[in-house]
Amino acid sequence: MKGVALYFFVTATVAVTLGMIWGIQMSASGDHALGGAHAHLNLVGWVTMALFGVYYHLTPAAAEAMLAKVHYVVALAGLVIMVPGIVQAIRETGETLAKVGSFLTLASMAIFLVTVLMNARRTA
Ligand code: HEM
Repeated sequence: MKGVALYFFVTATVAVTLGMIWGIQMSASGDHALGGAHAHLNLVGWVTMALFGVYYHLTPAAAEAMLAKVHYVVALAGLVIMVPGIVQAIRETGETLAKVGSFLTLASMAIFLVTVLMNARRTA
């Protein structure tokens, strides 16, 4: 694995490591208030990023395109903005970060949809 596929996989692994530490901290403290933010760190950060990584590993033509690098930057920005945003939203200290991060995360999936369709046509 190399390039964008590796970037996605390393990011995913960092996210789930932090997510698990956070989960253990919630369990140990008995305070599950931020469970929703933990869940998004794990599901968007680990599961989604890892799936992106697998796709780019299996589709080298997609991984070499400039759009793949744009995809990685948008996806990473979405994750690192959305998760603290959810923390803020749960604590009722603001919703701006959650909104910005959510739309970046949606944009990253839209880029991925375009990538999948373009490469499906190319290989068909
Ligand atoms: C060491 C590993 C982990 C620990 C100790 C842990 C711990 C926790 C705890 C304490 C909660 C709150 C439960 C509640 O309030 O009912 C929670 C919620 C959750 N976790 Fe984890 N977790 C871990 C890993 C993961 C992973 C890898 C994922 C997903 C890939 C995940 C997804 C979720 C989801 C979806 C919720 C529900 C959030 C909600 O109801 O708002 N967790 N976890």
